[in-house]
Amino acid sequence: MLVENTGARTDRPGGRGSAGPPATGRGSTRRHVVGAAAITALGGLLFGYDTGVVSGALLFLKNQFGGLSSFQQELVTSLLLIGAMIGALGAGRVADRIGRRPTILITALVFVVGVLLAAFAPTYWTLLIARIVIGLAVGAASMTVPLYIGEVAPPRMRGGLVSLNQLAITGGILLSYLIDYGLAGTANWRLMFGLAAIPAALLFAGILTQKESPHWLIRQGREDEARAVLRRLRDGDIDAEVADVKEVTATRAGGRDLLARGIRPALWVGVLLAVFQQVTGINTIIYYAPSLLAGAGLGNSAALLANVVNGAVNVGMTIVAIRLLDRTGRRPLLLAGTAGMAVGMIITAVAFLGGAQLHGWVAFLGIAGLLVYTGSFAVGLGPVFWLMIAEIYPLRIRGQAMSVATIANWGANFVVTISFLTLLNAVTPKGAFFLFAFLSLVALAYFAKRVPETKGRSLQEIERELGGRAPTAR
Ligand code: BGC
Repeated sequence: MLVENTGARTDRPGGRGSAGPPATGRGSTRRHVVGAAAITALGGLLFGYDTGVVSGALLFLKNQFGGLSSFQQELVTSLLLIGAMIGALGAGRVADRIGRRPTILITALVFVVGVLLAAFAPTYWTLLIARIVIGLAVGAASMTVPLYIGEVAPPRMRGGLVSLNQLAITGGILLSYLIDYGLAGTANWRLMFGLAAIPAALLFAGILTQKESPHWLIRQGREDEARAVLRRLRDGDIDAEVADVKEVTATRAGGRDLLARGIRPALWVGVLLAVFQQVTGINTIIYYAPSLLAGAGLGNSAALLANVVNGAVNVGMTIVAIRLLDRTGRRPLLLAGTAGMAVGMIITAVAFLGGAQLHGWVAFLGIAGLLVYTGSFAVGLGPVFWLMIAEIYPLRIRGQAMSVATIANWGANFVVTISFLTLLNAVTPKGAFFLFAFLSLVALAYFAKRVPETKGRSLQEIERELGGRAPTAR
């Protein structure tokens, strides 16, 4: 399924690393790389599941603990996002300091603790604490997973492999909808939360079988270990990659400073991709589509069904993106996808022109608009944001810089999520959807001008280009 692409500097065909035993065969290399990415992507599954599960769980939770007000319900949803900001803040530093692998191990443990605390919460307050703890792990996973996969993957497969994370996120969201739906008859919200302990335990056990990121090892001066890892993960010349990583690590003096002149352009690209990913409205659809459609007169089961279809389109189009990212490149998908988001939002807004109620074919038009929007997000901005922030930062500050972009993403998510219902009241659905369409067009103009192409190039080459000057569209 993963498309390969040649021409990357560190992936020259033919050459075997001159140091140490020859590299393993192509098949086993591929198995190791894909295996590492798939295991790590369980962190993405947990991200998707834990953010998605609450929409269904709330239906039953609201009658618990003596009855929860709307505000108390909002807290259950949004405290996870606050926890995620804190988790992303801490994880970058920790990953740069103690390594990517131990950071993911700790993250998996925090997932287990948080999920079990939520499942067995004796009081409302315990549940809130559990949601913050889960959020810490979600935030940490959201940046350490693409970070680790990005460094383990050979450039020719990096787009597809890092985006396995986005596939896992969308798969986790869909799984949570299906489990919510399946358990609805039992009203067992504790089990809805608790089932996430299984992938969390699998992530912990899986990462135990994996090696540390070779790039991080080189940066620590542990070159022999890095070479041993690289020989498992590459078919070609590992000397070039080791030399490349050493060079960018050695020559970027002052790179510790995130605001250093050379770093700033890449920092802006990451932060603006993060903010645009959220302010164009994806999570208002992911978290609120059932309420929106039910409110438009669709009936609960039709609304839930439309939601499941939307979740499936999200997964399906992410698979399309994975197939294309290393073939067409990131920019064409990002630009086409963002344009498609604007179109989808305009269609949805037009459906709501006649008022907040949708009848007959207009209801289909509204749902079609949402599907176009979600599918376009899934093929572009969804995967491309997480992929690019794993690609555009210099190694010595990669963890911290990814933290900044990730915090911006969770912060923007929080602001949009917490204000959406107020926005709906203030400007009606059509106003909100036109606003998201407009913001998608603003995002499109920015991406066209500023976001570089990173397909098939080594992380070190990208670093050299972005390091000295503002990134240019290619
Ligand atoms: C975003 C999430 C969103 C998900 C939807 C991710 O890339 O960061 O906020 O819920 O995509 O598929």
